[in-house]
Amino acid sequence: MRKPFIAGNWKMNTNSASAVALAAGLARQLAGVETIDVAVCPPFLYLQSVAAALSASNIALGAQDVYFEGNGAFTGEVSVEMLKDCCCSYAIIGHSERRHVLGETDALINKKIAAAIAGGLLPIFCVGELLEDREAGKTTQVVADQVKKGLDGLCPERVQAVTIAYEPVWAIGTGRTATPAQAQEVHAMIRSLLEKLYGKDIARALRIQYGGSAKPSNTAELMSQPDVDGLLVGGASLKVEDFAAMVKAIA
Ligand code: 13P
Repeated sequence: MRKPFIAGNWKMNTNSASAVALAAGLARQLAGVETIDVAVCPPFLYLQSVAAALSASNIALGAQDVYFEGNGAFTGEVSVEMLKDCCCSYAIIGHSERRHVLGETDALINKKIAAAIAGGLLPIFCVGELLEDREAGKTTQVVADQVKKGLDGLCPERVQAVTIAYEPVWAIGTGRTATPAQAQEVHAMIRSLLEKLYGKDIARALRIQYGGSAKPSNTAELMSQPDVDGLLVGGASLKVEDFAAMVKAIA
């Protein structure tokens, strides 16, 4: 069975003191939780101090992005090796804010995913449709296209390192969560696509998180869906009580 996986994406929030306080609070609240995988993804600047605050905990560390080149003249970018050096296990790749605010393409996302896996970093690969896509009946087409392009060229063995996060863009930060049925429908579609691309075993083993206004009050019903294997949480991951309540609801 797939082990549930919840990750907090702190986005461009916290500061040097509040990031450590949040991490330390979670480490205290979640001591002993072992039945699910938990990760937090602070801003790059606070990775090292958050890593120290989490050192005696089961909570893993992730970055919010990564660049595909190993080193060199890439001003402002951060490599896989640098993230590994700062104790990261995961990197969010292709988040909708990077796609739609920063203009990241499927091709760039594909390179990042390949580089992350090659360097031993586990990608949390985000996909999701815009409201206009959904209203035009294009959700399946858009999401399937993102999955195929993002994973293009990866052999089945490497794909196993990936967690997919389905985040409908209209649900992110809006308070408008996808219904459990809407989430399940897209997750099942993604899993059947993975089966076609990589076979049954890999499709069954890959975890698919839901993200978009997930919070304590809707955690249980989202997680009750057979193909929802976890959550990628934005706003609610910034409060110790809320994120801890979500972890405990799943565990
Ligand atoms: P919210 O939980 O704030 O809607 O954000 C979701 C998200 O984008 C997580 O990556």
